[in-house]
Amino acid sequence: MEVLNITTPSGRSQVLLGERFLNINRHLPHNKVVIITDTNVAKCYSGDFPPFPVIEIGFGEKNKNLDTVRYIYDKLIELEVDRSCFILGIGGGVICDIVGFVASTYMRGLDFGFVSTSLLSQVDASIGGKNGVNYQGFKNMIGVIRQPAFVLCDYTMLKSLPEKEYLSGLAEIVKHAVIRDRVMFEILEKNIRKILQRDSRIISGLISASVKIKAEIVGKDELEKGERRLLNFGHTFGHAIENIYNLSHGEAISLGMIMAANFSAHKGLMPLKSAKRLERLLDNLHLITKISPDKNIVLDTMRKDKKKYGTEIYFVMLEDIGKAIFRSIPFSDIERYQNK
Ligand SMILES: NC(=O)c1ccc[n+]([C@@H]2O[C@H](COP(=O)([O-])OP(=O)(O)OC[C@H]3O[C@@H](n4cnc5c(N)ncnc54)[C@H](O)[C@@H]3O)[C@@H](O)[C@H]2O)c1
Repeated sequence: MEVLNITTPSGRSQVLLGERFLNINRHLPHNKVVIITDTNVAKCYSGDFPPFPVIEIGFGEKNKNLDTVRYIYDKLIELEVDRSCFILGIGGGVICDIVGFVASTYMRGLDFGFVSTSLLSQVDASIGGKNGVNYQGFKNMIGVIRQPAFVLCDYTMLKSLPEKEYLSGLAEIVKHAVIRDRVMFEILEKNIRKILQRDSRIISGLISASVKIKAEIVGKDELEKGERRLLNFGHTFGHAIENIYNLSHGEAISLGMIMAANFSAHKGLMPLKSAKRLERLLDNLHLITKISPDKNIVLDTMRKDKKKYGTEIYFVMLEDIGKAIFRSIPFSDIERYQNK
């Protein structure tokens, strides 16, 4: 097991890379615990859950909303959960986002931790303390930043992950490589077959590399005033299409990264051939690379993005593979590019 510490103004978090779920009791701070999970994860792993009350919610993005939050609050009250209780989320990114939000707001905040079960949540969603839910069709509109006490990443739990969800996680691994680490990007390019076969050695290395990139950035800029914005590469366009077209988060981010890379080339920041290289990698990893969205609907959704300030938006672009920058771009520039 490899332990990574993330220290931020809002708290400390430990990422337990490669720790086995069966050892979860070693990491729970005390024995008053409530587990929150989704129906799919419960089906696969409830037999291994430690003996605590379980609140089960429906799976998937459609449940990442305030109705589910209210349902969980009601269950916590029913279970007479008080501030001495620890909340353990067991699941993918949706569970982590909801559980972190509930635990941060119920009784003004309970301690919480995650067993991160999807590739996407192990490399991204469970790390960094962003918790929240969607609202009126807008991604992560309501939320808080608060660090989990720990995130346990048991790589063996990825074996039960459906193919589509596994591929979705690969998109965020590519994102980390393309914004920060050219060598990691080359490793991805050279190991397509092994990655698609879920070779445990290569995947554990990529998860560890991804988490280190995210942890380093979050450690410096928890509240996303600067460098953390780089982690939004591909997310402005991605978030706009994710719910409208019912895509997985990774599929949406794959398309968003291609849009942002091509926009970077259009702006003269990076050669077009580097944008095409990113597109080729995503395609080889069986990620969706083409969609013909309704431009007006997408632009309208982008206009409500959290990264927009007045008539400008913080947009992450590439100067090269492994080197991202963010710029405040007039929204009209993106609109013109989308309409060209
Ligand atoms: N907070 C953040 O910083 C952050 C970062 C990136 C993404 N996200 C969010 O994460 C969410 C996407 O995460 P996700 O892709 O994990 O979605 P998810 O939680 O919906 O999981 C995907 C599917 O896989 C199932 N599943 C999870 N683990 C499993 C396992 N081990 N075996 C079998 N099935 C399993 C789930 O039940 C679900 O059906 C989005 O809502 C996105 O906005 C948050």
